[in-house]
Amino acid sequence: MISIIQQQMFAELEDKSLFKKAQENALHYLDEVLDRNVFPSQEALNNLSYFDEVLPASSTNAHEVIDQLNRYGSPATVASLGGRYFGFVTSSALPVGLAAKTLGTFWDQAPSMFMASPIGSKLETVVEKWLIDIFNLPKRVFAGFVSGTSSANLCGIAAARYRILKNQNWDINKQGLFNAPKVRIVTGKHAHSTVLKAVGILGLGEDSIEWVNVDSQGRILVDEVPELDCSTILILQAGNVSSGSFDDFETLCAKAQVSGAWVHIDGAFGLWAAAVDKLKHLTKGIEKANSWAVDGHKTLNTPYDCGIVMCEDSEAMTAALHMTGSYIIKSTERDGMLYTPEMSRRARIFELWATLKYLGKAGLNEMIYAMHERALQFASEIQLVKGFSVENKVVFNQVIVKCESDKTTDEVLNKVQELRECWAGGAVWFNRKVIRVSVCSWATTPEDITRSVKSFEKALLMYNSNH
Ligand SMILES: Cc1ncc(COP(=O)(O)O)c(C=O)c1O
Repeated sequence: MISIIQQQMFAELEDKSLFKKAQENALHYLDEVLDRNVFPSQEALNNLSYFDEVLPASSTNAHEVIDQLNRYGSPATVASLGGRYFGFVTSSALPVGLAAKTLGTFWDQAPSMFMASPIGSKLETVVEKWLIDIFNLPKRVFAGFVSGTSSANLCGIAAARYRILKNQNWDINKQGLFNAPKVRIVTGKHAHSTVLKAVGILGLGEDSIEWVNVDSQGRILVDEVPELDCSTILILQAGNVSSGSFDDFETLCAKAQVSGAWVHIDGAFGLWAAAVDKLKHLTKGIEKANSWAVDGHKTLNTPYDCGIVMCEDSEAMTAALHMTGSYIIKSTERDGMLYTPEMSRRARIFELWATLKYLGKAGLNEMIYAMHERALQFASEIQLVKGFSVENKVVFNQVIVKCESDKTTDEVLNKVQELRECWAGGAVWFNRKVIRVSVCSWATTPEDITRSVKSFEKALLMYNSNH
C-alpha cells in the first residue's frame, strides 16, 4: 500500500503538466528579461509578503506551489540575465548553459564518485583538461568543481596550509593548528574579502597577514613584498574586484619559486583574460603558481553556482579535503569529491562543459573581448558627461566612476538604482565613494551601454535639479 502523497507524486511524474507549466513560465521569463526593469518594481517587492506564511499543515497542490512561485517570484528577480546589470561581478548565462542545466536538473546527479554519476565524472575529467589548456597550466594540475570562488579560495589555501606544514613534518589533519609551526600569509591590501574569510576559517588569523601596499590600480607593489620563504603563502589577484587590475604574476611567481613559497591566485573573474588573444598578457606567469581559483559564473557566463579550484599538488589538495568511509567506492576513474569540501554536490559540470563546448576557443576569445570593449565604451561615454570621472585604467571589464563629492556619488548611485534602467553598485576606492560598473554579460550590447550611460546622466540631472 503506498501513501496518498506518493500516489500524487507518481501521478505528477506521469502527467508532466507540472513540468510543462514550469517550462512555459521560464520561457515567458526569457521573453521579457532583456528589456524589463533591471531591479524589481516596488510592487513586486511588496508582493514578496505573499510568502510570509506558516508551513502548511498538509500538502499543497503542486500546481499551486509553482503558480505562487512564478506569480510573485518572477517579478522579484533581478534581471542579471539581461545586458544592463553591472552589479558586483554578476554575469548572465549562455542559453546553452541554461539548457544543459535544465536537462541536468532532471538527471539530478551528485558526482561525488564515478559510481554515483559516470557522466558527471567523465565530464569533470574532460573539462579539467580543457581548463589546463585554456589557462596554459602544467599538465599535472587538477580541478575541483565547487560552488564559487569563495569556496575555491578556501580549498586552494587549505592545500597550501597542508603542504607548508607537512614539509615541516607537521600533519595538520592529525595534529591540528595548536602549537603548529607558523604559516605566513603575504597578500596585497586589496585582496578580496573571501581571501580573508578563508584565512579566518583556516585558523591562520587575519591579524597575522603581512599586508603589501598596492599601486593606484590596486596591484601589489612588487618592491614592497617582504622576503618570502617556504613557510609563506603568497596570495595574488587576477582581477581586482573594483578596478579589474592584475598583479605582476611573472615577477612575483618567480620570486616565490626561488624561495619555496606557495602562490595562490584568486582569479574569480580575471583569470579568463588568459583565453583572450589581446588580453592574455594580463595573466602572464600564472602557470608558475601552485593553486588557482576561478568562477564559471562570472566572466564565462555559466549559470550560478559554478566555481573551480585548480592545484598542481594533488597530494596536498586531496589530503586537505580528505574523505574516507567504509561505504565509499573509490574507482579508477575520477571521484570528484576528493577535490571538493563536499561529498554531495550539484553536477554543475553539465553547464560548464556545455558552455565551453559551445563557445570553443574562438567563442571564448570573442565573448570576453567584447566585455572589455563594452567596458571601454562605458568609460569613454561617461567621461563625456560633465560631473562624472573614471578612476581606473580599464584593462579588463571593470569601470570605476566617481562624481564630484562622496555625497553626490552616493545620491546619484541611489537614483541610478531607483531608475531601474540598469543596475550598478557602490564601493570605496582609496577613501572615496565610487560606483562600480562591471561588464560581465554576453548579452550587453553597445546600445545597452549607451542606454545605461544615459540613465547615469539622467540620475545626475535629477540630483542637480534638487540641489
Ligand atoms: C576577486 C574575487 N574573488 C572572490 C570572489 C568571490 O567569488 P564567489 O562569489 O564566486 O564566491 C569575487 C566575487 O566577486 C571576486 O571578485
